[in-house]
Amino acid sequence: MSAIPRQLADLIDSCSGYWKGSMHHILNNRGRLCLIVLVCSLMSVPATADEQARADKPAAAGKYPAFGLTEPQATLKHGAKVYETYCAGCHGPKGDGQGPAARFLDPKPRDFRTGQFRFSSRPSGELPTDEDLMRTIKEGLHGTSMPAWNLLPEQDRKAVIEHLKTFAPEVWSNAAPAAVTVVAEDPFYGLDRSEAIARGEKAYHGLAQCYSCHPVYVAPAALNEARASYGMPPLASVRPDPRRSKSTTNESGDALLPPDFTWNKLKRGEDLRELYLTVANGIGGAAMPTWKGILSEEDLWGMAYYIQDLASRRPKLVTENDLKDRSHMIEAAEAERLAYEKAESERQKAEAEAARTAQENAQPAVTVPATA
Ligand code: HEC
Ligand code: HEC
Repeated sequence: MSAIPRQLADLIDSCSGYWKGSMHHILNNRGRLCLIVLVCSLMSVPATADEQARADKPAAAGKYPAFGLTEPQATLKHGAKVYETYCAGCHGPKGDGQGPAARFLDPKPRDFRTGQFRFSSRPSGELPTDEDLMRTIKEGLHGTSMPAWNLLPEQDRKAVIEHLKTFAPEVWSNAAPAAVTVVAEDPFYGLDRSEAIARGEKAYHGLAQCYSCHPVYVAPAALNEARASYGMPPLASVRPDPRRSKSTTNESGDALLPPDFTWNKLKRGEDLRELYLTVANGIGGAAMPTWKGILSEEDLWGMAYYIQDLASRRPKLVTENDLKDRSHMIEAAEAERLAYEKAESERQKAEAEAARTAQENAQPAVTVPATA
């Protein structure tokens, strides 16, 4: 109980029975639900069109003209409002990742003051493009508490991106950002996927040595074979438990476990192009190196296919059998509904019929006057 801020606790206490118990459970153990409660409690009515139009008029220079951030004041003002409403609960009013919900969250919300971002179309260590941020905000980060803000109007998302930059103006004012990584044409497009997957498996366990952080997915002999195909000497052993990732720390010194692709969700999703970009660019703040220009395009694309294949082996929460069971249940429920409707319409018909007969019987018999 003491782990939950008062405001939240009051909110939960206002819920009844089951919800109250389970919310405390979830909050204390996973910290997940607090985001929903917090986000809901933080939501307020967005700026009206009128307010927006008024604010857009004077296109005065932005908050940090000295840093070259010259977004119109109105956009920044609107962005600040969007941020306060939807993002500050986790990322903190000051952008330091220390919002009231942050203590319950793992991984922690990004500290925007550092200017460090993970998911980008530029090499790791460089700033993401506005489009990259747009995608992250729209789609969220899978398997983390960062929600998908796809229902937020586009102009709100654009404005909030400009607001994020004001937390690290020195970083964002860099006039010459690095070029975006060119996504080469997929050499395996339209071919048998197994060829790409085999290529990726070899590169992953060979030259790229992804297993130095992520798990090894092949037997020791196959690992050394993959190494030999790149002219690398055999390894006697990798680490005591090579089937598990090797724990590392992020830029803030918090523990960060590289994902096991057959188990963990991928934050950026499983789209081949995004996987290509992750492998080619590496991940800033996570020490994952950049491979573009070092590995061949076949190897980069092959690894995207390979990771996607590993991810497809992740245990599914809903199995084929569950689906079969569910379809039986749906069929049974439908049959029940039809039977009920039929019985009900028959009952109504019988009732109407009974009412009609009763009315007929109640009417006094028409007496024909007797003729004299
Ligand atoms: C419920 C908590 C929560 C809310 C609300 C939230 N975020 Fe996040 N956000 C996170 C977490 C946690 C991460 C870090 C995930 C990670 O490192 O794996 C994150 C990461 C990010 C990143 C970094 C992406 C990268 O490439 O490194 C951006 C940008 C971001 N959030 C923007 C926003 C914006 C904009 C809003 C409001 C519209 C918002 N977030 C609201 C939890 C939240
Ligand atoms: C120095 C350690 C290290 C090496 C080497 C490394 N990674 Fe990673 N990788 C990480 C860490 C740490 C993360 C988790 C980052 C996070 O979630 O914030 C990660 C995450 C990933 C992700 C998931 C991104 C997402 O959307 O969640 C993919 C895919 C990935 N790595 C592929 C690879 C491939 C392929 C290689 C080899 C070319 C590789 N990594 C080499 C440390 C490493």
